[in-house]
Parts: sequence; C-alpha cells; structure tokens
Amino acid sequence: MQRVDSTNIYASKLIAEKNAQNKTVIFAHEQFAGKGQKNSAWESKSHLNLTFSIIFFPKKITAQQVFQLNKVISLAVRQYVSEKLPSSKVQVKWPNDILVNRKKIAGILVENQINADKIASSVIGIGLNVNQKQFARFEATSLFLETERLFNTREELLKFLVIIDLYLENLSQKSAIDSEYLANLYLLNELAEFQIGQDKTKATICGVDEFGRLSLQIDDKFRHFDIKELRFLS
Ligand code: BTN
Repeated sequence: MQRVDSTNIYASKLIAEKNAQNKTVIFAHEQFAGKGQKNSAWESKSHLNLTFSIIFFPKKITAQQVFQLNKVISLAVRQYVSEKLPSSKVQVKWPNDILVNRKKIAGILVENQINADKIASSVIGIGLNVNQKQFARFEATSLFLETERLFNTREELLKFLVIIDLYLENLSQKSAIDSEYLANLYLLNELAEFQIGQDKTKATICGVDEFGRLSLQIDDKFRHFDIKELRFLS
C-alpha cells in the first residue's frame, strides 16, 4: 500500500478482525506513525526503504519461547543484508537490531498475541534502510550508503521474503538457531558499557538466556537483563 500509520498496526487490525491468513505480508511505501522498540518511533523516508509486516501463526511455539521467533527473524534479516554486503561485518545487536560495521541498518519489532500460554499470532515488523542517504542519527546506515547503489525496493522485498520464509520454516531447529545467533551477536565475549538503572556498568556479554534476556558477566557474577532494564552505551 502507499501510506499507512504503521504496517504492524494494520496487521494487528487484520488479525483482530479475523481477516488474516498465515504469512500475509503488508508492505507500505510510507508509514506516518511507524513503531520502534521500547515505544519509540521508526523514522523512514517515504518510498526509499522497506517497511513491512508479516502475519505469522506459529504452530509449536509457547510464550516462554517467544524470543526464538525474534532470533530467527534477526538471523533472516542478517542473512539478507550480508548477501547484499558480502564484504561487510553484519551482526545482530541484542535483542534484534541489525548492524553493518556497528551502524544500524535494520530494526525488527515482533508483537505477539498470547492465548493460554501459546502464541496465537505474531506480527513481525521489519524496517530496512535501503536507498535513504541521510539519517538524523549518525550511527545509522543503508544499503545505498554501503554500496553507492540504488535498489528496487519491490524486487528486494521479494528476495528478502524468500529468505525470511526459509528461516521461519526452520523455527524448530533450536540448537542451530542458537549457535547462529551467538556466532553473529554484536560484542559477544567483549567488555562493553551499559546503563543499568542509575549506573554506568562495564560488563562482558556472555549470550542470551532461555527467556531471551541478555546474559552479562559483571565482575564475577552472571546476571540476566530484560530489554527494559539496560541500555547499551557501547
Ligand atoms: C526498532 O529497531 O526499534 C524496531 C523498528 C521496527 C520498524 C518496522 S517498519 C515496519 C513495521 N511497522 C512498524 O510500525 N514498525 C515495524
């Protein structure tokens, strides 16, 4: 569609109206109220980028395994971006930002509807910077900025969806997903700085626990944090 508040909101409405089929894709050239993580806004210049949502009805996943879906989608987006940028380091910054040489190129917002401890449906929202040349935040990048090439967004969406579908089909391959996620995790085993409550804390990222919390080693102790409990300063 040309213009919508947010493809995630549109997808949620279709689900609420019981008007949604598995793997329906909602793509918009322009969002005027795009949503980001932690109640932020997702800014994307119209017609230049990919902003879309996929409606997904997972078969086997319980609410405890919610993060598994986030991981799979992060890896699919990472895979697509690294195919476009074969000589760049493309990583997943927990929980699910995609970075190219430490600059953000894509963001993911998965919103789940949970019913009796099962995920009844998920809205997988993906924003990928494609042809945009300027960003308010200097730590952002796009396929154009990395390659100096313009891309046809419609063609790219189709290629992207093939990769996402492949990854979604392998959602139950837990150990393969976990190791691919760790292998591509930004700052794994490195000392990084975080804002935790009022404090600036240096800690080593050890991985992600079964609830999708970030596992940190702080001095000699291991602690696990939810997305709302910390902020990356590194
Ligand atoms: C983030 O990094 O904060 C997540 C950004 C997610 C943005 C996408 S764009 C398509 C979909 N619709 C939205 O309103 N948000 C997601």
